[in-house]
Parts: sequence; C-alpha cells; structure tokens
Amino acid sequence: MLKRTRTCGQLRLSDAGKKVVLAGWAHSYRDHGNLVFIDLRDREGLTQLVFDPEIQPQAHELARTVRCEWVIAARGVVRPRGEGLENPKLATGQVEVVVGEFEILNKAKTPPFEIELVKGQAEKTNEEFRLANRYIDLRRPEMQQKLRVRHRAAKITRDYFDQLGFWEIETPMLAKSTPEGARDFLVPSRLHGNSFYALPQSPQLFKQILMVGGVEKYFQIVRCFRDEDPRADRQAEFTQIDVEMSFADTDDVIGVNENLVAKIFKEILDVDVATPMRRMSYDEAVADYGVDRPDLRFDMKLKDISAIARQSDFKVFKSVLEGGGIVKGVCAPGGGRYTRSDIEKTLTDFVADYGAKGLAWCKVRRENDELSLAGGTSKFFSPDLQRQLIERFEAKDNDLLLLVADTEQIANKALAPLRCKLAGELKLYDPGSFEFVWIVDFPLFEWNEGEGRYDSLHHPFTAPVPEDLGKLETDPAGIRSQAYDIVVNGSEIGGGSIRIHQPPVQQKVFDLLNISREQAEQRFGFFLKALEYGAPPHGGIAFGLDRLVMLLTGTDNIRDVIAFPKTQRGQCLLTDAPSEVDQKQLDELNLRAQRHSHTTRQGPDPQEQRPQPNDA
Ligand code: AMO
Ligand code: AMP
Repeated sequence: MLKRTRTCGQLRLSDAGKKVVLAGWAHSYRDHGNLVFIDLRDREGLTQLVFDPEIQPQAHELARTVRCEWVIAARGVVRPRGEGLENPKLATGQVEVVVGEFEILNKAKTPPFEIELVKGQAEKTNEEFRLANRYIDLRRPEMQQKLRVRHRAAKITRDYFDQLGFWEIETPMLAKSTPEGARDFLVPSRLHGNSFYALPQSPQLFKQILMVGGVEKYFQIVRCFRDEDPRADRQAEFTQIDVEMSFADTDDVIGVNENLVAKIFKEILDVDVATPMRRMSYDEAVADYGVDRPDLRFDMKLKDISAIARQSDFKVFKSVLEGGGIVKGVCAPGGGRYTRSDIEKTLTDFVADYGAKGLAWCKVRRENDELSLAGGTSKFFSPDLQRQLIERFEAKDNDLLLLVADTEQIANKALAPLRCKLAGELKLYDPGSFEFVWIVDFPLFEWNEGEGRYDSLHHPFTAPVPEDLGKLETDPAGIRSQAYDIVVNGSEIGGGSIRIHQPPVQQKVFDLLNISREQAEQRFGFFLKALEYGAPPHGGIAFGLDRLVMLLTGTDNIRDVIAFPKTQRGQCLLTDAPSEVDQKQLDELNLRAQRHSHTTRQGPDPQEQRPQPNDA
C-alpha cells in the first residue's frame, strides 16, 4: 500500500515540485478525454489529482475506472494549476497533483446521497435518511468540523481542570436512581431477580459522596440518561461536564466555571468573553423576559401594564384583571411592518400554542410630531393612556405593541418566545454574537398545585441561602436557593448549586418535598448516611456539553453535534435500537415482553414543532 505523506488539505503553491502521497475518497470524477481529474477528499480537505496518459498511461487507465467514494491512494508531483484554472474557494485550489503511481484501496457502492461540501446543504436530504446512513453523513466536512469542535471542547476542559488540580473520576453507569426530575432508564439485574439498576440521570449523589470521600475537586465528562422525549436541544442520552468542589461558595464555583467557558470560546471561536459574567436574579429574569433563561442579545423587556390597562375600556383586559390576572406586553421595534393578518393570524396562533387566549396589538405612529397608537386595541385607550403606554414601552414611531392578558404564568410563557421570535424576524441582533448571564437567587421550591406539595426547582440537594434558613418552617415558598444557571443566547448550558451538607437541613427539605422518612431512607439512605460522617461544605455544576457544542458550531439541532444520535422518537436509525431481544435473553432476566400494539416506530414528535419556554 502506498504510504500517505500529506493530507488533502495541506498543499499550497510553495509545495510545487514536491513528491507526495495522498489517500482518501474520490469525491468527484471528471474525464476530459485526454485528462482525468479526481477530487480526492480526506477529513482535512480536497485536492485535485490529474491523470495524464502522456505521463503515466497505466495510472490514467486505472483512474478511468474509479467511481465516487472509492478509496484510493496516489503518488505524484505537486504543480501549480494552469492559468485561470485555480479554485479560490479551496485552500488547495492553487495546485494539483500529477499522479505517477496509483492504487485503489477499496471500491464503494454508489452512496445513497451526495457528500455535501457546502455548509447548510445537507438539509436537502431527509435527516432520518442521513441518520440511517450515518457513515456517509459523517463524511461531510460540516459534520466532521462539529465532531472536531466537540473533541476540542472536551480536550480544553480536561486540560483546564487538570491544571487546577481537579481529578476526573468515573462514576457508575449501572447505578441507583438519582432524582433529577426525569424518568429513569432501567436495566434488569440477572443476578438479582426483580431488581433493576438505573442508568444515571446525572452523577449527582456520587459526586457529592466523592466530596465526603475527601476528593475535594472532581470533574467528569459523563454520559447521562433521561427517559424524556428528545427535542431540538434535548437527547435521552447526553453528555455533561460535571464538576464538584469542596469548601467552595457560589463565587468560587461560578468563577472557576465561567473561566472555563471563556477559555473554550476563546480557543475555539477566538471570541473574547468578558468575565466576570453578568448575574441576574431569577425574579428579574422572569419579570423582564418572562423566562429564567433570557436571550440578552436584544433588549425588548416585557412590561407589566396592568395599571394602565385597568383604566382602558377593553372588556377582555378588565375581566382578566378583575380575576387576578395581569396584562403584560412587549414592544417590537420596527414591528409596524407586520400586517394586520400577520398579527391576528400568525402571531396570535403562535402565542395560542403557549396557552394565550388572544393577542392584543397597537401600532405606534407619529403624527404632527406626536406619537400615538393606531389599529387593533388602540381605540380602547384614551389619548392619555396611549401616551402612558408609549412611555412605559419607550416606544418609537413604527413600533408594534403586543399585549397578553392572562395569569402571570401564561402571559410570561407566551410572551417570552414571542419576544425571541420577533427579534429574530426583525433582525434586531447579530446571530453570531454571544450574551452570557448567570441566573441566581432561584426560589428553592415551587408549589406543585396538582400534588399539593413543594417541588425542588433545581434538585433536593440544593442548599437554601443561609439567611433564609429560618423560613424552612414558616415560609418555604419565600426561600431562595444557592443555585445558579449559566445561560447563553437563551439556552441554559449549565446549572448547579451549593449543596446541603448538614443532615438535619437535608431531612427538613425532604419533609417539605413530601418525601417520607421511609422513602428517603429507601432511595437515598446511603447518601444521608454519608452526610453524617463529616461532609465538607461543597457545591458544583454540570454543563450540557452537547448544548455548548451546539453554540460553538452554530446549530440548533442537537443531533448535529452527536456522532450517533437518537431521533425524536428515541431511535438509533443506524443500528435500529431499541429492538426486540431473544426469548433466551428475556428468560435469563426472568422477564416477559408484552406485545404492544401502540409502539409507533416513527413519525414526528409534536413537542419538536415548537420551542418550549419553560422546559427546565
Ligand atoms: P441539570 O439537570 O440542570 O443539572 O443538567 C445540567 C445541564 O445538562 C444539560 N441537559 C441536557 N442536555 C441535553 N439533553 C438533555 N436531555 C439534557 N438535560 C440536561 C443542560 C443542563 O443545564 N446534577 C445537576 C447539576 C448539578 O447540580 O451540579 C444536573 O444534572 O445544559
Ligand atoms: P375578541 O373580543 O375575542 O374578538 O378579541 C379582540 C382582540 O383581543 C383580538 O385581537 C384578540 O386576539 C385579543 N384578545 C382576546 N383575548 C385576549 C387576551 N386574553 N389577551 C390579549 N388579547 C386578547
């Protein structure tokens, strides 16, 4: 076999005259009568090979048999391309290799689809078809670039933590269920009938026990499993950069981890991320942006205009306000260009998906140097109230006000994604920019109306803010937690907290979550016991590596950054997992499979169709 000496992305004019051996896939093939051209592709790029019968009749003859995606190796001499034949789009476009010796390493069937060199072109081929033939899809330079970025992000992370004295420690995959709020994947035990392992939703309890075990600084790039419906930014099997530190407070954890993020963005994208990053309280985020993961690339703050709406003549507003609801809205700069049917059909349908019963609107216009409102609901507002609204939104000529009257929760749920949609459509920000923010001061609990108890907003091991400890007995809803989320451009890429390290506090929190002593003992007795043996104060965080790589590679499809992802229906189309198993395997596990008629193998997931404002 010819031994490769250079890659297909390397050769430049300065290499002219050099003898090289290249190997790769025949990307394309052109037979110009006398000359045969093959674009040879490897993961580094593309180089044009020329076969000239005058120079090497044998190689030329063999080259004529080559087809797309055959694997070949060629020895030849680098030469400048002829005048006017350069390809400026290609790094190697100034040169070609005149082949002397040539070897076919392997033939290939005609690929099921073309390997697209141009970014964004792969979408022409149905994604499920690409996933079923992932070995071909992975040959696309765009896909390889994403895998390369993912590798580099992981490598920078490992080096970074290593330098700071963190140890990477593996925690079990066959584990006991840890509550992160999702359904577990279960693995039946052969040796212990009727018993199951759970695949970890995160290494949460193990990493805390590592702190009790004196490890002090831990990290791990770790697979996590959550049996939820996959979405555009969510997979059932995903990867975390998981971190835990002893004797650390919020500032320590945030400091170490924001510097990691800044380093990754600098090294991979050459983007300077300002640190310390901005922090925003949960309350401020929800009030101003309607959501705990605001996209701060544009302003467009939501405004509660209940006080103004109360004085209007609009019945819908008045009755919602009387029922204890609110009227909240957003001002879209330049939104005057939306037509009435855009608003009353498209935008109204959009918010209806989030539960809003309607979308009131007014356009801002300037007349005789005075701003006033026109169209939609403006007739229900007196000139004075119109002025108040304009002032409240700091609205300008040709802006559009959009208002939702509902419970605070639904108004936020509808307006938060509407705000992002409008800003995108009105091109109010640079899509290539990044705005980071730490969301802090989360409530420790949220009331679960259906179950009549509190739920943890983060997880049950999150510590309350020390000053709020007294409220554990009196005002649980008013307790703030020492939790923090890192949000970029509206995507939550990580979250963590300072943990409870004192058993009585942990016990009290379980009580409020309605987890009985027996349940707590049965589910995390091992952990509660560990806390009793000198647990140091500790805290940590986990990043979603997949989501981080999505940002770094500019994709909004999580499947693009995973070599072998699952579909929206949780299937691996390449291997056809999940699949049925032999009776013998089931017998050994003492399991019986029931025939399900409702198992749908394919079809779109309705959840995928629209973004979820509050899917934390
Ligand atoms: P949390 O559940 O917030 O915290 O997860 C941390 C981060 O993991 C990413 N993530 C996901 N990415 C892809 N697909 C999913 N299904 C998915 N679920 C979560 C998100 C999220 O911010 N043990 C705690 C962390 C801690 O307290 O230290 C935990 O798992 O980017
Ligand atoms: P209606 O009186 O129901 O025909 O609604 C008149 C206008 O008010 C329409 O543009 C509706 O979209 C809007 N609207 C109805 N209900 C609400 C609501 N709860 N919040 C905001 N606008 C609403």
